[in-house]
Parts: sequence; structure tokens; C-alpha cells
Amino acid sequence: MFANKELCKRCGACAAECPYDLIVEDKEGFPKLRPAAKKTCIACGHCVAVCPTAALTLPDMKAVTPELTPDQCGQVARQLKIAPEQADQFLRSRRSVRTYKNKPVDKDTLVELLEVARFAPSAKNGQPAQWIVTSSAEVTQELVSHVVHYMSLNNVFPGVIKNWKKGVDKICHHAPHVAIAHASEDGFHPAEDCALAAAYLELAAHARGVGACWAGFLMEAAEGCHALRERLQIPEGHGVHAALMLGYPKFRYARIPRRRAVVVRWLD
Ligand SMILES: Cc1cc2nc3c(=O)[nH]c(=O)nc-3n(C[C@H](O)[C@H](O)[C@H](O)COP(=O)(O)O)c2cc1C
Repeated sequence: MFANKELCKRCGACAAECPYDLIVEDKEGFPKLRPAAKKTCIACGHCVAVCPTAALTLPDMKAVTPELTPDQCGQVARQLKIAPEQADQFLRSRRSVRTYKNKPVDKDTLVELLEVARFAPSAKNGQPAQWIVTSSAEVTQELVSHVVHYMSLNNVFPGVIKNWKKGVDKICHHAPHVAIAHASEDGFHPAEDCALAAAYLELAAHARGVGACWAGFLMEAAEGCHALRERLQIPEGHGVHAALMLGYPKFRYARIPRRRAVVVRWLD
């Protein structure tokens, strides 16, 4: 049963929030699923999550296995809501970190970051991002050596190569960890989905005092360099769409740098 009629207040929130209009009213005004839901539901869980009285259970069907009950949803803890000034300062004070302490981030913390990244938006709720994460600086440096080798083969970025030969890593900046997001190219928007998951991960890191920075060189090499793809065991048909170095920042930023003024044209 989709709606528990003893709990449902017929407020209509579930139908209004369903992205595919898959919820309609029955004769008594209670919500029911259209037959099309079996095929079209994207399992976003909004109907179950928005219901103020926990009256809905999404039944087992193509995209929803097993059924989704209110108990399986996380709680929104209203007391943890942050003020706009806190949110703005948090977002504006995130920086790309390029100097790291020689101290690993413990695995539990890395797992917490990945757990938050799961909640990034994704096209049709596809959630296609998969991660490869290094636990040690040694393996991170091994990946960097692949990138440098690839660069030297292609005769690009001689400065980066020269630095590497002097023991200076300009690719992952000696960060102890790297997190690489890949996804099947069969999805709707795998690149955007991975980039958004990485943005969430970076913000979750910032909240915990863990520094991050996109590792663009590594990301590109993981797309094009066969040896690196093999080392990473990137599945056939997957694209690499994000890579973040991670570690504890050596320096603390005292200021928020200036950014370009917003460019906007109001249409009306
Ligand atoms: C797709 C992408 C690739 C990037 N690649 C690199 C990189 O390879 N190395 C690096 O040091 N920073 C890289 N960055 C970080 C940008 O340089 C940084 O975001 C920008 O300078 C703004 O600084 P902020 O993040 O501290 O605001 C990359 C950022 C993005 C979004």
C-alpha cells in the first residue's frame, strides 16, 4: 500500500513534489501511484521524505528495491539549521588547498566525506559517481608518477616535469590522498553528476578542516593514459570526471580573496 489512510492528511505535498507527476488522488482524495510509476519512478524518495505524517511507503518496483519506508529516510534535524551568514561564510571561505601537512586523514573521516557526496544532485537521480580513493601518500605519489610519465610522453607542462625531477609534486601537491570520481558514459550527465559529487565532497571536507583541491592534471591523465587507467582499474565505458587531492592544510587562510563581480542580465 502506498498511502496509510489513517496517517495521511491528504495535504497533496507528495503529488506536488513528484518530479514525474506519478501521484494522483483516488476517489477519496488520498494519494495513489499511477501505473506508469512502475517504469518511470526515479526513486528520488521525495514523496516519502516530504510527507509530514510519515504516511507513505514507496512499493518495490523497477527503480525502488526494496520498498522505501519513512523509517529508512534520514531525519532533518531542524536544530542544526545554519543561518545564511554562516552558510555564506562557509562557502566563501572554502579554498583550493595546495600545501598539506604530512599527516594522513583517517579512513573514517574519508568515509564521512564520501557519505555526504552521495547526496549531491544527479540527473534523473542516477547517482552514477563511483570513487577511487588512496589511503596513503605512497600510492598517491605512485599515481602522480604515472601522470608525470604521461606528460613527458606528450611533451606537455615541462615545468611540472622539471619540478617532479627535483622532488616537487605540482600535480597533487604532496597531498596524502586523492579521490577520483568516475561514471558510466551511458548515463544522462555523468560529467556534471561527478563534478557535483566532488563539490559536495570538497565542502564536507572543508566542514571538517580537511583541505581539498581539484587535481585537474590527474583527472585528464586518468582519461587518456592507458597505464594509469589500468592502475586505477577504471571500468570499460567509464569516464573520469573529477579528482580531488585531500589532506590537512598546512596554512590557515586569514582572508577571502576577491572574486569577479557577478555577471547577470535580468530578462524582465
Ligand atoms: C575542473 C577544475 C580543475 C582544476 N585543476 C586544478 C589543478 O590541476 N591544480 C590546481 O592546483 N588547482 C586546480 N583547480 C583549482 C582552481 O585553480 C581553483 O578552484 C581556483 O583557482 C579558485 O580558487 P579557490 O578554489 O580557492 O576559490 C581546478 C579547479 C577545477 C574546478
